[in-house]
Amino acid sequence: MTATGQADDLLIAQISDTHAIDPALGSDSIVDNNERMRTAVASLAAEVLPPVRIVHTGDATNDGHPGEYDVLVETFEPLADRLRILPGNHDDPDEIRRRFPDQPWADTDHGSWVETVGGVTLIGLDSTKRGEHGGHLDDARLTWVADQLAAAPGPSVLCLHHPPFRSGLAWMDDGQLRPHGALDEIVAGAPGLERIWCGHLHRPITTTVGGVTTITCPTTSQRIGLDLRPEAPISVIAEPAAYQLHLRTEGGWVTHTRPVDLGIEPIVPDWA
Ligand SMILES: [Fe+2]
Ligand SMILES: [Fe+2]
Repeated sequence: MTATGQADDLLIAQISDTHAIDPALGSDSIVDNNERMRTAVASLAAEVLPPVRIVHTGDATNDGHPGEYDVLVETFEPLADRLRILPGNHDDPDEIRRRFPDQPWADTDHGSWVETVGGVTLIGLDSTKRGEHGGHLDDARLTWVADQLAAAPGPSVLCLHHPPFRSGLAWMDDGQLRPHGALDEIVAGAPGLERIWCGHLHRPITTTVGGVTTITCPTTSQRIGLDLRPEAPISVIAEPAAYQLHLRTEGGWVTHTRPVDLGIEPIVPDWA
């Protein structure tokens, strides 16, 4: 492959925390979650270089109600064959499995899945625990994910809702993945693991976990206010809806963040 070659590039999109609302139930969101979700899906469907997969890293709905899944399924219908979805703490993992039956669900009692596409094994790990805001990985899930990483025939990416790191967003960190550090040793011992992609924090954040570059995808709904003081109050902000495009080139992964509701199209400037 040449330095400018693109034939072997792999493009995977990530969307997260759409928090779909049942209009009959309403919500306390400060933005129109459904409208932003629809705008993001329309943008994804119109990507001129189509992603081969769209990974939804959870909190697909706001409260896990059936009516919210009706809205979700209808909205994502144009992307259904490429969508791979994970439950978040706002979801009902059983309902997600019922509503998206064609996903490569693992034969487990948790909503996890695994699939190899374009030579890269995507491992979707259900990090939810019923009734809890934070994430939790019990021994069965830790064993499952270690097994999937070991069995991957080539490079791999681990996808989960709850980020396995402390973000500095204090009130969100109260619910960070437990047990703390549980994944560090596992991912450090998985030489083929190239990225960890998460949701939950409603902001684009980058760090490393066990030496692996780890990214959280921004939400399409309301964002968490960016206040890094230890005593920061709970706050949300109506920053632009966005999703991410992860491109795997001969040099590795590059991640682009696309805002979707600005009403601004790219133009060719006079000096081009
Ligand atoms: Fe969320
Ligand atoms: Fe969440």
